[in-house]
Amino acid sequence: MALLDVQNLRVRFETHHGVVRAVDGVSFQLEEGETLGLVGESGSGKSVTNLALLGLIPSPPGVVEADALLFEGTDLAKLSEAQMRKIRGNDISMIFQDPMTSLNPLLTIERQLTEVLCLHKKMSRREAKKKAIQGLGDVGIPSPDKRIDQYPHELSGGMRQRVMIAMGLLCEPRLLLADEPTTALDVTIQAQVLELMKDLQARTGTAIILVTHDLGVVAGMSDRIQVMYGGRLVEMAPTLDLFAQPLHPYTRGLLGSIPTLHSHPGEDLDSIPGQPPDLADMPPGCAFEPRCAWKTERCAQESPPLRSLTQPETGAKRHSACLEIETLLQTPPSSAPVTP
Ligand SMILES: Nc1ncnc2c1ncn2[C@@H]1O[C@H](COP(=O)(O)OP(=O)(O)O)[C@@H](O)[C@H]1O
Ligand SMILES: [Mg+2]
Repeated sequence: MALLDVQNLRVRFETHHGVVRAVDGVSFQLEEGETLGLVGESGSGKSVTNLALLGLIPSPPGVVEADALLFEGTDLAKLSEAQMRKIRGNDISMIFQDPMTSLNPLLTIERQLTEVLCLHKKMSRREAKKKAIQGLGDVGIPSPDKRIDQYPHELSGGMRQRVMIAMGLLCEPRLLLADEPTTALDVTIQAQVLELMKDLQARTGTAIILVTHDLGVVAGMSDRIQVMYGGRLVEMAPTLDLFAQPLHPYTRGLLGSIPTLHSHPGEDLDSIPGQPPDLADMPPGCAFEPRCAWKTERCAQESPPLRSLTQPETGAKRHSACLEIETLLQTPPSSAPVTP
C-alpha cells in the first residue's frame, strides 16, 4: 500500500469572476521514503494541491472533492476537523512559503516547538526544550537558547521561516509537504535545510513532496517529478528520465529555462512565450496548445488524457498528457519540433 494515494483530486474556488478550477482531476501515489518534486509555473495549482491534502482550503470560496485521499489507508477527505488536527503537524507536517500561516502569533517559539514533542512523542518539557533548541540551531538560528523564548513577531521574516522549518522537521512526520521551503533563504542556509530534510528521510523514512521553482533543487532531491500545468498533471517521470527526455512540450519549455554553461550572468532565461491558461475559462482542448511549438490541429479540440507508457530504452514508467507524445519520443529534447 502506498503511503499516500490521491485519486482524482479537484479543488475549485467559486469567485465573483467565475469558478476557478485550481486543481482539476489530479491523481498520484507516494511511497514511504520517497521524494516527489512538484514543479510548474506560478498559479498551476501546486500549493492548492498541498493545502487540500491537509484540509486547509478556505471554504467558502473553496470546494474540495476527491474520489479518495488515502494516507496510510485513511481517507483524509472523510476526517473531522478535530481528527485532521491530530494528523497535521504530527504525521503530516508542512513547511509553507508564508510562515505566518503556520506560526501562532500568541505563543512563544518554545510553546510551538515543544507542544508536539510533549504531546505525541511523550517527551518531558525539559527534553523537549533541549531538542527544540537543537532544532533551531540546526536551521542556522543564532543563539537558539535565547530565541526560543521570543514570539514570532519579534523575529525577522527569514528567522520565522527557519523556525517553521525546524517545527516541520522536529515532529519527524511520515509525510512532509515542503512548499518552496527555501525560497526566501540565502544559499548556505538553503543547502543546510535541504541536507536536514535528507537526514530526516534517511533516519525515519519520511516521504516528501517538494514544491520548488528551482530545477536544480528538484533534480538533486527528488526521486520522481510531477509537472503541473493549469491545475492538471501533464507529466510524471523518474527524475533522471524526465531530465534526459522530457515527454511533454511544457516540460521541455521549463527545462529550457535552466541556465546553462553558455548563458551569461544577468541574461534573461529562456522563458516560455505566452500566458498560462485562465483557470476560470479553460479551453476545450489541451491547455498548453496556444503556447505549444509541437501542436497539431486536433490539440485545440481534444483534451489530452494523462497516458502511461514505458520508455523503450530505459524501461522507465512514465506519464505524459500530450497527444503528440510519439513525436516527442522520437525527437531529442534539444532539437526543435519537426515542422511539416
Ligand atoms: N482562496 C482562494 N480564492 C480564490 N482563488 C484561489 C485561492 N487560493 C488559490 N487560488 C487560485 O488557485 C490557483 C492555483 O494557485 P496555487 O496552487 O497557489 O498556485 P501555485 O502553483 O503557484 O502554488 C491560482 O489561480 C490562484 O489564484
Ligand atoms: Mg504556490
